[in-house]
Amino acid sequence: MRLVVTADIHYDIVRSMKPARKVAEQICGLDADALLVLGDVGGRDADIVRDGLRLFDKFKGRRFFVAGNHDIWTSPGEDSLDRLERVLPEICREAGFHDLGVTPAEVEGVGLAGSIGWYDYSFRPERLGIPLRFYEAKIAPGAASRLDGYAHLVADLSDVPEEAMHIGTRWMDGEHVRLPMSDVDLCQRLVHRAAAHLRELEKHCRTIVFGIHHLPFRELVPHQTHPGWAFGSAFLGSTRFGELLLNCPKVRYVFCGHSHREHRLRIGHIDCIDVGCTYVAKRYEVVEV
Ligand SMILES: [Fe+2]
Ligand SMILES: [Fe+2]
Repeated sequence: MRLVVTADIHYDIVRSMKPARKVAEQICGLDADALLVLGDVGGRDADIVRDGLRLFDKFKGRRFFVAGNHDIWTSPGEDSLDRLERVLPEICREAGFHDLGVTPAEVEGVGLAGSIGWYDYSFRPERLGIPLRFYEAKIAPGAASRLDGYAHLVADLSDVPEEAMHIGTRWMDGEHVRLPMSDVDLCQRLVHRAAAHLRELEKHCRTIVFGIHHLPFRELVPHQTHPGWAFGSAFLGSTRFGELLLNCPKVRYVFCGHSHREHRLRIGHIDCIDVGCTYVAKRYEVVEV
């Protein structure tokens, strides 16, 4: 079974549009059985996710999708969980894609499962010494002290290291993702769903490929010397997905995106590949499974 994987199409960002069209055209010309698009196809406007998926209309094999964090950015009054669990699967149906976050699939004996993944701050760098409340608000202490609306975070700074007051990072999901639950609870919900999908596939598939937008292993997190980027590491993924995948012996490949850095390594029995598309340089992976 020949599988093509790409990620981070970002068809809502002007400088990303031309490279997205180009990589989609290349992928549509490939002779492959299945395509997996690993999220961040669009942004707040769900119609752009549809437009981004339709770039792959001419791909001859089966088409699969998992959402990225940008795909569940919403406008005030909208709900990102509704976007993830109702709107995006509907868009996938319209665009000829199968949303692996909803149900797993099988192609020629190979099980395909996937998830947006999420973060529970398990990747946060302890060395920064930043209290959890800043990660929950997705804003570093330096930014929280300068912007309106975060007085509750900085009213008592006795637990905040002086150096952290110079970190001005905001993770923009904090502005655009509107969840009816905490990040930790969403992460848990998605891990449980992925576990159920893997159990289903294990019964009859010879091998399994898992696609996830966020990073499932700490080892995939790019090392960041800049404190601002190190703060952002907390939002790259969760160790819980990695633990789940390592407990499933039939998982042969795990593909992810989100970091925009190409990276591959073997962890236990799994080949992990971060596809590493950036806004301006798109790429894809092809594997025979
Ligand atoms: Fe991205
Ligand atoms: Fe992302």
